[in-house]
Amino acid sequence: MASILIVDDDSQLRNSFGKLLGQEGHDIRMASSGESGVQMVREALPDLIIMDVRMPGMDGLEAFNLIREYDQRVPVIIMTAFGTTETAIKATKMGAFDYILKPFDIPEVLDLIEQALEAGRLAREHVEMGGAPNDAPAGALIGNSRAMNEIYKAIGRSAPTDALVLIRGESGTGKELVARAVYQHSERSGKPFLVINCVAIPDTLLESELFGYERGAFTGANTRRVGKIEQADGGTVMLDEIGDMPLGVQAKILRLLQEKKIERLGGRSPMDVDVRIIAATNRDLEEAVKEGRFREDLYYRLKVVTIELPPLRDRTEDIVPLAEYFLNRLSVEMDLPNPGISEDGLRFLQTYRWPGNVRELSNTLQKALIFNRGTAISHEELAQAVGADTGREQEEDVLDDEDRFRRTIRKALAENAGKNAFEMLMNRAGRMIIGEALEITDGNRTRAAKLLGLTRPTLIARIEKYGLKTSTKVE
Ligand SMILES: Nc1ncnc2c1ncn2[C@@H]1O[C@H](COP(=O)(O)OP(=O)(O)OP(=O)(O)O)[C@@H](O)[C@H]1O
Ligand SMILES: [Mg+2]
Repeated sequence: MASILIVDDDSQLRNSFGKLLGQEGHDIRMASSGESGVQMVREALPDLIIMDVRMPGMDGLEAFNLIREYDQRVPVIIMTAFGTTETAIKATKMGAFDYILKPFDIPEVLDLIEQALEAGRLAREHVEMGGAPNDAPAGALIGNSRAMNEIYKAIGRSAPTDALVLIRGESGTGKELVARAVYQHSERSGKPFLVINCVAIPDTLLESELFGYERGAFTGANTRRVGKIEQADGGTVMLDEIGDMPLGVQAKILRLLQEKKIERLGGRSPMDVDVRIIAATNRDLEEAVKEGRFREDLYYRLKVVTIELPPLRDRTEDIVPLAEYFLNRLSVEMDLPNPGISEDGLRFLQTYRWPGNVRELSNTLQKALIFNRGTAISHEELAQAVGADTGREQEEDVLDDEDRFRRTIRKALAENAGKNAFEMLMNRAGRMIIGEALEITDGNRTRAAKLLGLTRPTLIARIEKYGLKTSTKVE
């Protein structure tokens, strides 16, 4: 649950927005003018602000400036009606997270809100290093192995220098967490921190996402768009999975590193920007350079300050503290008693190879905890929980299931052609998914919602929609 402030002079919009976000489980506050919006931010800083640009009295831009003077990190999404996009663009240029056009596309807006909340959380949560597993806060870096201590030192040395940092390591070793620690311990910690995942964004979009574009730069570019790098001016940008960045974008990043300049697509003149870059990859960059997929000049620039995260199997003494830490946190988060881990369970954790590293360890414990029936988590429970992640047999099972599912879909399509086949299948899948989650959690809606990654109100709405019966246990 996050606290969200909605600032708009239109009461109808405020209320419908408030209702929508309230249903998502967020805590909503509303202000009807720029002035009162700023006032409310000063009283209690929200996790996210959604603000109209055009309001009588103090407009959104002015309010945005005052909010930024007070706090640099709270994400702000600007709402704009057609015809006032120029102002919204100005706001993103000054560091607003993004803008949305009225009328809204609800799923898109909800998605953007989740992204903004995540960005705000990343920027705000301080990463503690090497804390004791029992009272370390969420997002702390756990581990006291020699390797982890070297990592802490490297973070401490590189953070204040403003240098480009490259973080390397297998998937799930904690690269993003380390990037955040570097940012948090740097002089830019009060400024924005944006993570851009170079694989998650299609090649054709990555360039415009990073650098923005001018109106008319390509078909469909109806307005100017401010890129993420420009938005993060003064702050830090993490380029995640940089090993997968297309060559054209690499050239532009190199220029940014050398000249501290960027150019929007279709732009006529370069602009100065001041951002610190932190890059991360799990790729073999040397190999990529050899194969011509990665620029050699960029590679040499990147590797000057490298933090190398060893795989978990090479620092086995961190496994038990990490497991204790995750089990503690997960049991609190999921509202389940912490059963502890048996002796043979601990031995299993220490001898398993963890191809998915820390993330796999955390996922495994989460699964084991959900299925646990009250006694200390055993070797068998853990073996079963990891198997689900990596085992070959399991993969084939999934294939069979998929085939079966495909047949069901075909049948339904044949029977309902031209009618509401899509809706019907989605409902059927939804009903099954929620039914299973309720089964696993003994009908406990809070736990089922957590398991599904839904808010409780959303889950309840679905239960009602699908007409599922749940036991009326006291929760
Ligand atoms: N040393 C650590 N202490 C506590 N939690 C950790 C540690 N390392 C990783 N984690 C947790 O493990 C998960 C994976 O970490 P993270 O996302 O930083 O990995 P990554 O290297 O970026 O992975 P990928 O390459 O798949 O993106 C996160 O939930 C993170 O908080
Ligand atoms: Mg990552």
